[in-house]
Parts: sequence; C-alpha cells; structure tokens
Amino acid sequence: MTTAPNVSVFRRKEDACRQLALDVAGLIESINASGRPAVLGLATGSTPIPFYKALIELHQAGKVSFQQVITFNLDEYLGLPREHPESYWSFMHRQLFDHIDIPADHIHLPRGIVDDVPAHCREYEQAIADAGGIDFQLLGIGRTGHIGFNEPGSPRDSRTREIHLDPITRQDAAPAFGGLDQVPTSAITMGCGTILAARRIALLAFGSHKAAIVKDALQGPITDQVSASFLQEHPDANFYLDQEASAEL
Ligand code: F6R
Repeated sequence: MTTAPNVSVFRRKEDACRQLALDVAGLIESINASGRPAVLGLATGSTPIPFYKALIELHQAGKVSFQQVITFNLDEYLGLPREHPESYWSFMHRQLFDHIDIPADHIHLPRGIVDDVPAHCREYEQAIADAGGIDFQLLGIGRTGHIGFNEPGSPRDSRTREIHLDPITRQDAAPAFGGLDQVPTSAITMGCGTILAARRIALLAFGSHKAAIVKDALQGPITDQVSASFLQEHPDANFYLDQEASAEL
C-alpha cells in the first residue's frame, strides 16, 4: 500500500528542527508515561546538528530528560576507532550525548573496528529487537538517495550489514576528512528493512542541493535505486524540509 508521507516545509532549518525537537520530546514523555523507555534511532551528518542543538536546549530548560531513552545510531564508518574525530561515535558525543542525561549504557552505535562484521551486525539487530524495536527514527538523505548508508541497490528488506560507499557519498564526506583518500570506503549501516520497521520516521532535508533527491524520494517511483523512496510505503513517515529542499515538489 502506498501512503503519502507527511511533508512540512519551514522557512529556516532551525524552525524545522525546533518543531521536530518538540515533537520528539513529547513522544519521549508519552512513551515514558506508559512505563517504558523510548527507543530512538539517530542519524549523523550536517543536517541533524540544529535538531540536536534544539534537543539540548529543551533538556537544559528542564523540558525533557533522556534517562529513560535508549538510542541506536544508523551507521558507522568501518576502519575508524571510536576516538577518531570523524567517527560517528565521536560526532554523537560531541553534538548530543555529552550535553544530556542519557546513561552511557543506553547508547548504541555499530563499531568501526570489529573482527567479525556479520556477527556484529546480527548482534546490533538483536539489541534493537531486545529494546522493543525503534519508536522514532531520525533520517537525513544523501544525494544518492540513501537513508542510513543504504546506497542504490540496497534491497527493501535489507538489515544491518556492511556496505560499500558510493563515490558521491565519499566525495561529500571528503572535506570533513581532509581529502577523498582519507574517507573510508565502507561502513556498517542499518538496512532499509531495519529503518522501515521503526514505528515513526522523520526525514530532515535542507538546502537546494537536496531538492532533486527529495523530489525523487517523495514523487518518483518506489525503487531500490533511491532507498528513501521506500518511505512512501511507511505508515508514519514525515519529511521536515526547508524551502530550498522543497523547491522541486
Ligand atoms: C548519517 C546517515 C546519512 C546522512 C546523509 C546526509 O547517519 O546515515 O544518511 O543522513 O548522508 O548527510 P548530510 O546531513 O551531511 O547531508
């Protein structure tokens, strides 16, 4: 069944992120009130930074606590130790975890240095299942249409696994790494099936460089060539866009 995702367009990305932070704080509160922890799937990249800033502000204002929150990040670069400044483990601590009251053992990211990758991926899926599944999944979108690092060709039912990064994705990461040759060639990512199993999903996209792929994701065919197009089939997918990213809709 195809259900159109909800699309909200904001004047500025900060407005979109503030609204989403309020929505997520409300969700955490209502899930905690039902007597269980809220399970959040989190994303990295430049897009969610203002969202994390807004969440930290709500926390500092006493409006949300993360003591009863469990998190699972979408992905991690393979080959990077946690302490590498560009690891997603470092990113998440810098942008969010160091500033909120989440217990350290509630935080989960795939490991960048791991002996048995398939076994680690199975354990990651099991940990999500043991937590009760993901209540809310945050996403960005890559210019290849990836969600997580599900590059073109990723099956609809794929689960957490190793993925070879698309050249466009590596190019986009090159400035942060100080050159293309420094960018890892592969990553561990939750699969499309892992993401689509989340009960609620929010995709953030900002800027004119995302306009074409946002149109493909929302209005193009549902295809494994654009992983984000699978969101058209999710019953509670919500796009939070700025005007530039929505320009081609
Ligand atoms: C990040 C992730 C990616 C990014 C996407 C957009 O954990 O899984 O899908 O969301 O590459 O990156 P930015 O936000 O840097 O444009």
